Amino acid sequence: MQEVKEFKPNIVAFCCNWCSYAGADLAGSSRLSYPADVKIIRVPCSGRVNPMFILKAFEKGADGVIICGCHPGDCHYNTGNFYARRRMTLLYSMLDYMGIEKGRTRVEWVSAAEGAKFSNVMNKFCGDIKELGECVKLGDIRCKD
Ligand code: FES
Repeated sequence: MQEVKEFKPNIVAFCCNWCSYAGADLAGSSRLSYPADVKIIRVPCSGRVNPMFILKAFEKGADGVIICGCHPGDCHYNTGNFYARRRMTLLYSMLDYMGIEKGRTRVEWVSAAEGAKFSNVMNKFCGDIKELGECVKLGDIRCKD
């Protein structure tokens, strides 16, 4: 009898240095759990996330990509998160055109004091990606096992 493998999604989380990364840190030091499938990439600001980073993540095998930044009005660089939000709105329609479900990308605002929110957001996102299953649309077969 063949063993059924549990689907473990690859999730990439771009977290801004000033709020969300500190929120992830707080979640860790408060012993709040979030899935180990989440790979955090620290960026100076959510506005630093180029849409190409997201497409590249999908190409390299990510099943979901989330951008976390400071709450609107709290960005360390004043307007970075507004740019991120605007870019993502455009990217959603492009991803939709490419056949990548909208639920596979998300933008969330998590402050440095919101460790619990970070944990909840990651658990929810991971659950949603598990429901969607593996993302095969952009996958580069050279990156697969
Ligand atoms: Fe956090 Fe800009 S510094 S979103």
